Amino acid sequence: MIRAAVVGTGGISNAHIQGLLTFPDRCRIVALCDIVPGKAEAVRRRYGLDCPVFEKAEDMLDAGIPIDLVHVCTPPFAHASVAIQAMEHGCHVLVEKPMAAGISECQAMLDTAREHHVILGQVAQNRFTDPYWRLHQILQSGIAGKICSVQVNSAWWRGHCYYDLWWRGTWEKEGGGPTLNHAVHHVDLLNWLEGGLPEKVACLMTNVCHDNSEVEDLSMAVMKYADGSLAQLTSSVVHHGEEQSIIVQCEHAKISAPWDPKAEISMDNGFPEEHHNQELLTELNRMAEAIPPLRYTGHTGEIDNLLTALEQHTEPLITGKDGIRTVELITAIYKSGFTGNMVTLPLGPDDDFYRPEGIQRHAVHFHEKTVSRESLGKSGIRIEHI
Ligand SMILES: NC(=O)c1ccc[n+]([C@@H]2O[C@H](COP(=O)([O-])OP(=O)(O)OC[C@H]3O[C@@H](n4cnc5c(N)ncnc54)[C@H](O)[C@@H]3O)[C@@H](O)[C@H]2O)c1
Repeated sequence: MIRAAVVGTGGISNAHIQGLLTFPDRCRIVALCDIVPGKAEAVRRRYGLDCPVFEKAEDMLDAGIPIDLVHVCTPPFAHASVAIQAMEHGCHVLVEKPMAAGISECQAMLDTAREHHVILGQVAQNRFTDPYWRLHQILQSGIAGKICSVQVNSAWWRGHCYYDLWWRGTWEKEGGGPTLNHAVHHVDLLNWLEGGLPEKVACLMTNVCHDNSEVEDLSMAVMKYADGSLAQLTSSVVHHGEEQSIIVQCEHAKISAPWDPKAEISMDNGFPEEHHNQELLTELNRMAEAIPPLRYTGHTGEIDNLLTALEQHTEPLITGKDGIRTVELITAIYKSGFTGNMVTLPLGPDDDFYRPEGIQRHAVHFHEKTVSRESLGKSGIRIEHI
C-alpha cells in the first residue's frame, strides 16, 4: 500500500486525488498540505478523507507520518523547493508540469532523486490519451518511415481575466506564458515522438490579447533536428476553438492526432497518384484500430503507471529526465524569442538562460500586470486534455 500526500490543494489537485482514489487497494492519501489556511481542510472534507492537513510542507514531512509519495501540485515557482524537501525525506515525488522554472532547478531535482534513491515522476498526462498513445505506437512501428516534419498546434483560448490570478502572468511566478504552461504538454509529446531534442530553434513571440500580463500569449517556433527534419510549434492562448493537433509527416505517410492518415505514392513523373497509397492507408487504419483503448487515461493513467513502477521497482514512463528535456526546449524557444537569434542546443550551465534568474533578466515584459487576485470565479479549471 503506497502512502501518498498532496502538496498544493488547488485546481489540479482534484485530478491527483481522484486518480489516487481510483486505486484504493494500492494507495492511500495520508496527508494534504496547502499554504492557504483552511484550503487543505476543505479539500479533505470534500473527499471525505481521513488524514491530517498541514500549511507547510516541512511540517508535514517532519510530522512522523510515513509517506512514500508526494504529489507536488503547487504553482511552478514552488515545484523545485517542495519536491527537493520531499525527496530529502526519502519520499518519491510526482511533480506537476512544468517540472520547474528553469533547467538548473530541474537538474537539482534530478540530483536529489539520484542521491536519495527515489523516483521523480513528472506529470505529462496527455501521453495517456488514446490518440497520442496510438500515434506514438504507430510511429514507433516504422511503417510510416522516417520523420520529415512535425507540426504541433498547442492552441488554447483563455479570457483576459485568466491572468488576474496572483501567480499567473508574471515571469517570476508563472515562469512564462503558453509556450511554457500550455505547450509543455505538446513539447513533452514532441520529444516523446522525436526521441530527442532538436539542434536548433528559432522563435517569434508576442502578447496580442492579454494586457494584464508580462508574459507572451502567442509564440511560433521552428526547430531543426540532427537528421535534417523540421518541427514547428504554435503555442497560444488566443486560438478560438482550441483545435489541438500534432501532425507527423513521414517519408511514406502522414500520421496525426486527431487520427487522419494520408499516404501518397508517386506516378512516373513524381506527381502523386490520384488514388493515393490505398494499401498503406488500409494497413495504417488496421493498426490504429488494433491498438486497444487505454484502461486509465490522463492523470489516472499516469498515476496507475507510477504506482506500478513503485510496486515493481521499475521506472515510470515519464520521469524527471523527460521533464528537464521539456524545460530545456522551452527555454531555448524563449531564448530565441527574447534575443531574436537562432539558438543551438544543448543549453549548458554556462548559458545565461540555464537558471530562472537568467531567463527573468532577459525576459521581454510585453505588458505590466496591473490586477492580482487570490482566486478566480467559481467555475473551476478544465484539465489540459489534448
Ligand atoms: N497537468 C495539467 O493538465 C495541469 C492543469 C492545470 C494546472 N497544472 C499545474 O498544476 C500546478 C498548480 O496549478 P493549479 O491550477 O492547481 O493552481 P492553484 O492556484 O489552483 O493551486 C495551487 C495551490 O498550491 C498552493 N501552494 C502554493 N505554494 C505552496 C507551498 N509552498 N506549499 C503548499 N501549498 C502551496 C496554493 O495555495 C494553491 O492552493 C501548476 O504547476 C500548474 O501548471 C497542471
